[in-house]
Amino acid sequence: MKATLVIENISNLITLKGENKPRTGLDMKDIGLIKNGIVAVDGDKIIYVGEGSLPSHIEINEKTVFVDGKDKTVTPGLIDSHTHLVHGGSRENELAMKLEGVEYLDILKKGGGIHSTVKSTKEAGFEELYEKAKKSLDTMISYGVTTVEAKSGYGIDDFDVEIKQMDVAKKLNENHPVDIVSTFMGAHAIPEKYGDNPDRFVDIIVEKMVPEVSKRKLAKFCDVFCEEGVFTIEQSRKILEAGRKYGLIPKIHADEIKPLGGAELAAEINCITADHLVAASNEGIKKMAEKKVIANLLPGTSFNLQTGKFARAREMIEAGVPISLSTDYNPGSCPTENLQLIMSFASLIMKMTPEEVITAVTINGACALKLEEEKGSLEKGKKADLVIFDVPNLNYIIYHFGINHVEKVIKDGIVIN
Ligand code: NIG
Ligand code: FE
Repeated sequence: MKATLVIENISNLITLKGENKPRTGLDMKDIGLIKNGIVAVDGDKIIYVGEGSLPSHIEINEKTVFVDGKDKTVTPGLIDSHTHLVHGGSRENELAMKLEGVEYLDILKKGGGIHSTVKSTKEAGFEELYEKAKKSLDTMISYGVTTVEAKSGYGIDDFDVEIKQMDVAKKLNENHPVDIVSTFMGAHAIPEKYGDNPDRFVDIIVEKMVPEVSKRKLAKFCDVFCEEGVFTIEQSRKILEAGRKYGLIPKIHADEIKPLGGAELAAEINCITADHLVAASNEGIKKMAEKKVIANLLPGTSFNLQTGKFARAREMIEAGVPISLSTDYNPGSCPTENLQLIMSFASLIMKMTPEEVITAVTINGACALKLEEEKGSLEKGKKADLVIFDVPNLNYIIYHFGINHVEKVIKDGIVIN
């Protein structure tokens, strides 16, 4: 077997080796650390992971690229499994209102918030959306993110705009080194014209949009903003079940602000993830643990909405719920691409250990996107997506917060920066 790339002398090699399934409880602490590690890659695949030097069956030649990992920490490529990557405009105009204490759902009710981004996304051409999202992806990969989920949801009833968002994501997936997985989220807000009859909009999503998204293979997942004043439990169930019927795997924005029973619904209909969960009930957490629904937690959003309320990560882990962590990058509730900052928030605010945090943004993130067979850990046969952090240990990434610790990213076996 020949190696095209070898990363050697790695002081801390965090492999996340283990079963390709969502990790919970104590398994979230087991990160497969190897001191003085070595990784060999052929093309875009890992062919060897171990300690010390290469075994004799791995051949090297004059073309093999060598990277030195001395005093570095190496992890699998980070996975940001919840973003609203493709959108037009920005919402810094909401800052003053936010500082005065106007709540997120009140801004939305007044026609701002998501509605304001719907307008900007409608106005933006394909190229403009593409370039803006590309810039975000460049930032994300510079922070160690190699796979990103991208939701539609700023077209809502304007289906052409929903399609435009997903087409942008598709083209970026083809052209940019970061892998992008699309989610259809037409059910992101109730359009003004359906304010008196939201069920009519739900019918349009179910009867027209979902079948078309599925037919055109525009998305892998279907998502709903299940929240007071947005989509009810019944409407969310209807949309997600229609999605599943057409091959779209259900995800849900659940119990972000009000405890509506989104976590319970996620368990009932076997969503792959339930996201946010700041207001999730004890019963909801218990049911998610039973069904092993992944809690995709987004502490950057809690921070930015200034509610002072964060998801109960510790209780979830103790109950046996697998956790993933994401930015929720979007122009309203979390305008940041920086997943390392989210990792620090998860630890410093939600009290997750560094081991749990790295598990949440690698193998559990891969599970949140159903990519666990090919990504999320450094093991023979998996994709050669790796991050070399210029830090002496894992704790350091969390502790020295708010800055970028990445030295190099390797994507599909190619050294990117
Ligand atoms: O996950 N909560 C709903 N959707 C996004 C915010 C989108 C926006 O405000 O533009 C979220 O926080
Ligand atoms: Fe979101």
